[in-house]
Amino acid sequence: MRVFIAGATGVYGRALIPRLLARGDEVVALARSVDHAQAIALPGVELVAGDLLHEDPERLRRAMAGCDAAAHLATAIRPGATGSDGANTTAALRIDGTRRLLDAVIAAGVGRYVQQSIVMAYPDGGDRWLDEDTPFDQGEERAPTAHPVVTMEAMVRALDPGRVAWTILRGGSFVGPGTAQDAVIERLRAGTQTVPGDGRNWVSFIHVEDIAEATLLALHQAKGGSVLNITDEPIRNGDYLDRLAALLGVPEPARDPAASRPRSFRCSNAAAQATLGWTPTHGIWPAVAGR
Ligand SMILES: NC(=O)c1ccc[n+]([C@@H]2O[C@H](COP(=O)([O-])OP(=O)(O)OC[C@H]3O[C@@H](n4cnc5c(N)ncnc54)[C@H](OP(=O)(O)O)[C@@H]3O)[C@@H](O)[C@H]2O)c1
Repeated sequence: MRVFIAGATGVYGRALIPRLLARGDEVVALARSVDHAQAIALPGVELVAGDLLHEDPERLRRAMAGCDAAAHLATAIRPGATGSDGANTTAALRIDGTRRLLDAVIAAGVGRYVQQSIVMAYPDGGDRWLDEDTPFDQGEERAPTAHPVVTMEAMVRALDPGRVAWTILRGGSFVGPGTAQDAVIERLRAGTQTVPGDGRNWVSFIHVEDIAEATLLALHQAKGGSVLNITDEPIRNGDYLDRLAALLGVPEPARDPAASRPRSFRCSNAAAQATLGWTPTHGIWPAVAGR
């Protein structure tokens, strides 16, 4: 299979590409700077210089010509970013970028499509399980990220799955080397990490290697028309940070009751397990060196 990837140079793309190549696939990778794409400059990867937000539509179509599948993994939010860093560009990548990619997919006759989405657009679920039927939280204050995600997913859902077998993968918070987990480990070691609120909010993590495996399966074999949470077993934030501290051999982080409790995402991955025959195998804990 020949697979076009936007966002191929990111932590997720770098986990996905070796899997595709090992399976005998060819990859066409969109990268804003080919010079910065050395990590994915592997035999079987064709690098195409381009910016998803500014690319000439005809050039994008030509890059996709002959591809069997395409995936949108691009984001402008860097691992560990806080506040609104990159949020506007990410919203544009989700809305304009998705529109541009889908137009090219249709024009080039690409038959399979994977859209990366996020579970963080669900409403605060407290202790309730969140599955794919839970409506996204569109309130500006409660989930400012939700609106572009809703629009993005709506564009994908509007595709005829008989023509383009689409799958939306709603990823949990990434863990693994190169993800925001690195910064949490650094803060725990430095003694500056705290647990906001009472720490009882749930977090649904996913190892980048596990989401890469789910993406490989969706690109190759999903029937189309599925929206799937790609998450590992949820854990309460306080328990996660305490256990991570224990693994690192450092003191448990202090609770910060004055800080507002983060939203709680206790997400079920049952649909992904049933649809893709996938199950996470890497866990959420780092291999700790230098203890
Ligand atoms: N990180 C998480 O916890 C998390 C959780 C759930 C879902 N996700 C989703 O997973 C996807 C990838 O995340 P990631 O962690 O791999 O991000 P990342 O490591 O920061 O990589 C971002 C990628 O997006 C590309 N990109 C940025 N702006 C672009 C533009 N204008 N045109 C084309 N490409 C552009 C970057 O390419 P360049 O080489 O050109 O910079 C890079 O390949 C995103 O859809 C994100 O929403 C992330």
